[in-house]
Amino acid sequence: MKKKIIAIGLIVTSIVTIQSCKKDKADKDADKELYSEITAGGYSYYQNGTLLSGVSPSPHGSFKLRFNATASAALDSTGELPTGSSFSTGSIIVKEIFSGSSINLYAVMKKDPSNGNAGSGWVWAEFKTDGSAAFSTSKKGDGCISCHSGSPNRDLTKTFDLH
Ligand code: HEC
Repeated sequence: MKKKIIAIGLIVTSIVTIQSCKKDKADKDADKELYSEITAGGYSYYQNGTLLSGVSPSPHGSFKLRFNATASAALDSTGELPTGSSFSTGSIIVKEIFSGSSINLYAVMKKDPSNGNAGSGWVWAEFKTDGSAAFSTSKKGDGCISCHSGSPNRDLTKTFDLH
């Protein structure tokens, strides 16, 4: 009887371990995929790539912002997202956070409402410059959204009202 219980215990433990390894791998793959998207070409910089200082309540520090072509298409002739407008699915916004004169971290938002990792329609992540995730997409924006949804925001983005 005891042996049976131990055996069942072992089986359950190994199933749980295998499942969580699978999830880890899926999370890592999702992060990797997004990282390769943010390092691809086709981006244009906000305000010609001027280094901007984070404005309260920003936790991010000095930064440059860039948009992929889909995100750029939502911007008006002055490069701003008009109040009340939204970004289309596939939009990627990359915030290059600087320490001195070099990039230290990437903070990323990708509009992808049907993605399993989306939180409020966006996939949220932070990456170190070696491509490893500092904030995984699997966290679904936990800790990001509460601040980004504060007033004012435009489709959960903060820059246009602050810079
Ligand atoms: C306490 C508030 C706060 C938190 C928490 C926060 N952000 Fe931000 N974020 C800002 C502000 C304010 C800006 C506007 C630019 C600036 O001044 O830094 C911003 C800008 C951004 C941008 C550029 C697009 C935009 O909204 O203008 C991205 C991308 C971004 N944040 C990603 C993230 C991610 C990913 C997280 C969570 C890991 C996060 N942020 C957490 C306040 C916050």
